[in-house]
Amino acid sequence: MPNNKDKLVIFDTTLRDGEQSPGASMNVSEKLRIAKVLEKLNVDVIEAGFPIASKGDFDAVHNIASNIKNSTVCALARAIDKDIDAAGEAVKPTQNSRIHTFIATSEIHMQKKLNMSKDEVISQAVKSINRIKKYTDNIEFSPEDAGRSEFDFLSKIIEKAIDAGANTINIPDTVGYNIPEQFGDLVKRLINNIPNSDKAIFSVHCHNDLGLAVANSLSAVMNGARQVECTINGLGERAGNASLEEVVMTVKTRQDIFACDTRIDTSHIVPASKLVSSITGFPVQPNKAIVGANAFAHESGIHQDGVIKHRETYEIMKAQDVGWMENKLVLGKHSGRNALKTRLSEIGFEIKDSSELNILFNKFKDLADIKHEIYDDDLHSLISNTSGEDNISDYNLVNIRSVSDSNSEPFSEIILEKNNKNFESDSSGGGPVDAAFKAIEKIVSSNSKLQLYSVNNITDGTDSLGEVTVRIEKEGLIVNGIGSDTDIVIASAKAYLDAINKLNKKSNIVHPQLDHV
Ligand code: KIV
Ligand code: ZN
Repeated sequence: MPNNKDKLVIFDTTLRDGEQSPGASMNVSEKLRIAKVLEKLNVDVIEAGFPIASKGDFDAVHNIASNIKNSTVCALARAIDKDIDAAGEAVKPTQNSRIHTFIATSEIHMQKKLNMSKDEVISQAVKSINRIKKYTDNIEFSPEDAGRSEFDFLSKIIEKAIDAGANTINIPDTVGYNIPEQFGDLVKRLINNIPNSDKAIFSVHCHNDLGLAVANSLSAVMNGARQVECTINGLGERAGNASLEEVVMTVKTRQDIFACDTRIDTSHIVPASKLVSSITGFPVQPNKAIVGANAFAHESGIHQDGVIKHRETYEIMKAQDVGWMENKLVLGKHSGRNALKTRLSEIGFEIKDSSELNILFNKFKDLADIKHEIYDDDLHSLISNTSGEDNISDYNLVNIRSVSDSNSEPFSEIILEKNNKNFESDSSGGGPVDAAFKAIEKIVSSNSKLQLYSVNNITDGTDSLGEVTVRIEKEGLIVNGIGSDTDIVIASAKAYLDAINKLNKKSNIVHPQLDHV
């Protein structure tokens, strides 16, 4: 970063706000894999979760704090003692911790949600910041719904928060209501009006309800914000958060405009995007900026001709700068255990022990027999299908026989295993996948509703691994399941079982923005 530029802190909240997308929940080992890729990206702060929400969330934050060395690990806490204590315990393993506490400051939230007066909200915020000091001096305070809060009150609570010891002040546009010019102006006025504003870094956290999260964040940066909260692929509550890749690449590409720069290693952006998409089951739209499959594809003849003559006629960024060439052909049928272990570690996955290596190696060999050439993306999918937090009470697929005949109804026979007991069933259906799901449902009786079924091929070619995402819903709980196989009916059955197992495990998770104080 040139010396005359300020640093723009990149605060990634994929593992916290991103996980609040309905169906995007991740288990501890999936979160750790994402955290490792975020660390490779050189993200400054990883918001690893909301520890009071559940044991799983606490464990994920604790695990990430134990394993991440080059990024600050942050935990979210409402302005409540029990939240702060859980956050403090969860981030204890790292020297580089931050606790982020928040309380709502808009009239509508204070009256209708908190039922608290302005003075009570200020004193609760100050008390919480003081409590955080027991655990860390890296303290972030967010006045929730700042984008709709009254300016004088907002200024007052921020001044008190800084006095109490908050060194990052985050201005959330919680409901995605703001417009770039207005939001930039809000940040500028806060920085100019609050007497002690120079003692804190001003941050922004924008939601995308009107499709303006990135524009609002960048407008704030042009007006003095020096931290942006964002997520990979723009994942997040409702319409999502500002997308990390768009914020980072805009700042990098338009250094003629921005007075600051990030320290992100952009060559890891596409691998990070693919990993988050494959773990959460949220596909990336092909025309998505930076990470969409078409983001660097030139379809029209005129464009192709121009790009061949001189790349910069139509391209403002290089595909390889964001990691589009990273899907390397790495291994084949003759590769050994060591080669597999080494490549897995290079893509951020450390093998725990020899039994895990054996399981993965056998799956790798089976795949290489069918597919011959194994790419990084195939490995990511193998890991996703192998390293879940298997539980003895999970259903496992023992066998599926699927009959597809153009003259008769498709039919499926299934054998599942749970607690060392086998269960068998069969069913016909509208198609082979429908037949498989019906046969599974006869055993598991989940009574869930299928909300989404999608198939993606992981690499090119008809022998590619097909990755299936299934989203199911039951009584308001939504979960995604993922399965991959070169046979898409088998991949579908695995995805459905993955979703069923997640549904069975899911406990009542506390949502940060509901159930407050
Ligand atoms: O959107 C929001 O206001 C949040 C806060 C917790 C920062 O996610
Ligand atoms: Zn948010």
